Amino acid sequence: MDLRLETDVDLTSLNSFGVPARARALVRVRTPRQVRQLVDHPDLGVRPKLVLGGGSNTLFVKHPESMVVKVEIPGISVVRDDTAATVIDVGAGVGWHALVAWTLDHGLPGLENLACIPGTVGAAPVQNIGAYGLELADRVESVDAVDLTTGRLVTLDAGACRFGYRDSLFKQALAGKSIITSVRLRLPKPWTPVLGYADLARHFARIGVAAPDARQIFDAVCEIRRAKLPDPAVLGNAGSFFKNPVVNRTIRNEILEDFPEIVSYPLEDGNFKLAAAWLIDACGWKGRALGRAAVDAHHALVLVNRGGASGAEIVTLADAVREAVRSKFGISLEFEPFVV
Ligand code: EPU
Repeated sequence: MDLRLETDVDLTSLNSFGVPARARALVRVRTPRQVRQLVDHPDLGVRPKLVLGGGSNTLFVKHPESMVVKVEIPGISVVRDDTAATVIDVGAGVGWHALVAWTLDHGLPGLENLACIPGTVGAAPVQNIGAYGLELADRVESVDAVDLTTGRLVTLDAGACRFGYRDSLFKQALAGKSIITSVRLRLPKPWTPVLGYADLARHFARIGVAAPDARQIFDAVCEIRRAKLPDPAVLGNAGSFFKNPVVNRTIRNEILEDFPEIVSYPLEDGNFKLAAAWLIDACGWKGRALGRAAVDAHHALVLVNRGGASGAEIVTLADAVREAVRSKFGISLEFEPFVV
């Protein structure tokens, strides 16, 4: 199928913040071959490109000048099934939550802790999505991507993707230089539940289930997320707006002296992750609005569009929150979504 260039496209419904923006040019790609055609195209190939999946990690503050490439590559298939694992290959355009549901419907547990995360499979490796004790990196076997300079399809194994906390090669050295076309996920056998996260452990203690199966974990994660995080279809948002800051032991201990109730988690490398939501909450910003943008009333890490907000209004709020945290705790919060 030939590539079709759409012009002057409204992006409001294509970003989960629901902020207004228009793309001068947009191309939808449905196969890896189309991505390669796009790169080799005499006219379109040379244009700067902005890759859009589910639009749940992008905040438009202006109309993008780059050509928007909407990745809609479908398909889920089992590529290997042996005693150690089942490996599935998933098109970058598949919805992440739909994939998690599909795996459970096909008796393939292993992704249930990542249920209900908005966005597409192709976007998942970029920021190494993670929740409730599991990260995408724990399940990636390899990622296929088209190099935007050469048009070649390359396969990167998990190590080459350089996954970190909400970070990867695709966000660093390869930013703007490649388009992910499919992701291979490895679901290890035998299945072992991941139940260490406090919210999950509390949930199962409360309902009196000692050894939940994958479906029960899936349901629990969805329930916890729904109770805490606003639905982007109702209230525009991009999930966590800030990353949880990582500090060394000295800084953490200094803060602890002044704020003994601070929430922090020790990391394997000796550093500590601080709960950004707690820091924002402690600054009194939870539930506060600035114009049509607000800090969510239920979770201080989420910024929401109360209706009609522009991307710039959301960034103004984010900057105010960041300044409050910096002046009270001396910590600089980092944005999670891409600001375009
Ligand atoms: N907290 C507050 N006030 C709040 C909310 C939370 O003080 O309004 C404190 C609580 O003490 C809580 C702690 O902050 O124990 C941590 O909160 P939570 O368990 O909700 O996790 P989080 O660190 O805020 C991270 C991810 C989420 C993910 C959850 C669950 C980041 C940036 N965010 O949030 O991911 O769902 O853990 O694993 O790492 C996302 O990235 O979009 C996202 C939603």
